[in-house]
Amino acid sequence: MIQGKRILLVIAGGIAAYKCLELIRRLRERGASVRCVLTRAAQEFVTPLSVSTLSRERVFTDLFSLTDEHEIGHIRLARDCDLVVVAPATADLITKMALGIADDLASTVLLASDRPVLAAPAMNHVMWNAPATQANVATLAARGVALVGPGSGPLAEGETGIGRMAEPPEILAAIDRQLGGPGPLDGRRALVTSGPTYEPIDPVRYIANRSSGKQGHAIAVALARLGARVTLVSGPTRLADPPGVHCVHIESAVEMLRACEDALPVDVAVCAAAVADWRVAAVAAEKIKKSDDGAPPTLALATNPDILATLARRLDARPRLVVGFAAETENLIEHATAKRLRKGCDWILANDVSPETGTFGGDANAVHVIDGRGVESWPRLGKDEVADRLAARIAEALR
Ligand code: CTP
Repeated sequence: MIQGKRILLVIAGGIAAYKCLELIRRLRERGASVRCVLTRAAQEFVTPLSVSTLSRERVFTDLFSLTDEHEIGHIRLARDCDLVVVAPATADLITKMALGIADDLASTVLLASDRPVLAAPAMNHVMWNAPATQANVATLAARGVALVGPGSGPLAEGETGIGRMAEPPEILAAIDRQLGGPGPLDGRRALVTSGPTYEPIDPVRYIANRSSGKQGHAIAVALARLGARVTLVSGPTRLADPPGVHCVHIESAVEMLRACEDALPVDVAVCAAAVADWRVAAVAAEKIKKSDDGAPPTLALATNPDILATLARRLDARPRLVVGFAAETENLIEHATAKRLRKGCDWILANDVSPETGTFGGDANAVHVIDGRGVESWPRLGKDEVADRLAARIAEALR
């Protein structure tokens, strides 16, 4: 529970510092008091005035300020809180924390604090992967510092990789966990479909598609991280079963539908699988042999059940929230909006799967969330980050 808790937010100097303004606003909305310490570099990215306006508290910046020391000494500042949050935790500040360097107010407060610490790292991917940073992060983790993020996706400098600071809703969820409160999806049940389906032709052949399952699996992980009990119904993928998630392996669309119905009731269903639209109407019991004249066999197809539409249109045990994906190659928003209405789902995440986007099978995704109120476009993000954002949005909707 965040309500009534005192957060000490240490803001270091990275471009992600701007996200702290949103974090402060959300913490205040949830009833926390937020006291902020800004490093000198942080003040290049956000001003003490905007931070203090949002936090409604004075902001602390200087170790040697006579007024600060007189009003609230740095030792009290370090201890008068329930949780210290470091966001963005830059490579520099992480190093100081690991080595115990105390050469400004932020690092001194961190060394002097006996409160639990949550850090949200943010930096360039090469800096994040540098052995020095990894060693320092491991040191902090071994000392009990909790970490949230970083996520992967486009970074401020135009490169792509791991290093993006977690989004405010994710940091909020991590703060909730640190404060011993329940995750925002505690007690909720979720169903996620993922991967391709394999539609058999005969005992050895099948029709399939190129879905990797990365997005669906990431969504299952993100929902579980927020406390949901997740059933992941997946077609064949190369991915390992995510820990903490109940995994059901299927091959065909018909099997996927049955497994989904077995998992009901749930609070939310997210259909991220690339389900084959058709199956072979009469699967051959034996391997189909080549005919003597070389003529290919003709396969009669039958339409597969639409799992998303079936779940969304159930009269009993309909999940409170049904979320689908719309994979389109043209007129993205228009087609996806029509698809949402046709399938009867609450939200649809439209993504462009034209080959040049590299979405299918790739690590990133640019989605537009379409619900009854309109379109919310997200930037191109790592699939893990899309999952985290979606899970946070689901948690808000189910509150
Ligand atoms: N879906 C499903 N069962 C199906 C087909 C699709 O549950 N038999 C779900 C997908 O998991 C996704 C959404 O429906 O959430 C949209 O799938 P998509 O392939 O983009 O759309 P289609 O329904 O196949 O429409 P079209 O092929 O005309 O674009």
